[in-house]
Amino acid sequence: MQLQDILYSQGFGTRRVCAGLVQRGLVRLFDPKADAFSICADSSVDVTPDGLRFQVQEETWVYQPKAYVMLHKPSGTECSQKPSTYPSVYTLLPVPLRQRPCKSAIQGVQAVGRLDQDTTGLLLLSDDGQFIHRMSSPKKHVPKVYEVATKHPVSAVQISRLLEGVVLDDDPVAVKAAACVQTSDHGVSLTLTEGKYHQVKRMLAAVGNRVETLHRSRIGNLALPTDLAPGQWKWLDDNDLAALTS
Ligand code: URA
Repeated sequence: MQLQDILYSQGFGTRRVCAGLVQRGLVRLFDPKADAFSICADSSVDVTPDGLRFQVQEETWVYQPKAYVMLHKPSGTECSQKPSTYPSVYTLLPVPLRQRPCKSAIQGVQAVGRLDQDTTGLLLLSDDGQFIHRMSSPKKHVPKVYEVATKHPVSAVQISRLLEGVVLDDDPVAVKAAACVQTSDHGVSLTLTEGKYHQVKRMLAAVGNRVETLHRSRIGNLALPTDLAPGQWKWLDDNDLAALTS
């Protein structure tokens, strides 16, 4: 694959921009034998993309045919590309992830579902439409675990009701938690397999309590790593991807 096409596929700009970056000596390829990066100024040189490590100006990148990443969403950010009030989570990602070319009209990685602006925790993003569908489709029942801090003490009756199912205002079908474990006087860990609008907040309100803080800690068997600080992102590796679907 030509070097300019590799850069283009990874989101470093149009083919013309990518060719220019290479010709201006701004691209370095990693040579495992020399254990060092060196400038490559030939934009049409044929390079094997798999496993390729390269630098574009200050950005170090590893070629990924598809992008699968997790973000520790901080509070006070919106999952929309065009936020109304708070900064978009997309501003926390490097530019190449936001402008990877896609077959669809929308460029770059897309969030897998949405979290409220004040919710923190695990958010997945990808440019793989099938993956996004698999992870967010209500029919697939991928479990998502939320750590909830509540305004009022949690009672055994509230936990039973959350497990048995509660009716939410505009929805005649009762929704229930797949699991609900009390974690403290004012805390529960709630596992949901659907993703209705404001579902956790509405379920807690339906049982007479109120969400004070909400944090998504897990999707499938993939937990948010403790060393990923709010606002940080990382690529998903093969183990992470397997954990999502196992
Ligand atoms: N349920 C909510 O109420 N809010 C979220 O952000 C996610 C689930």
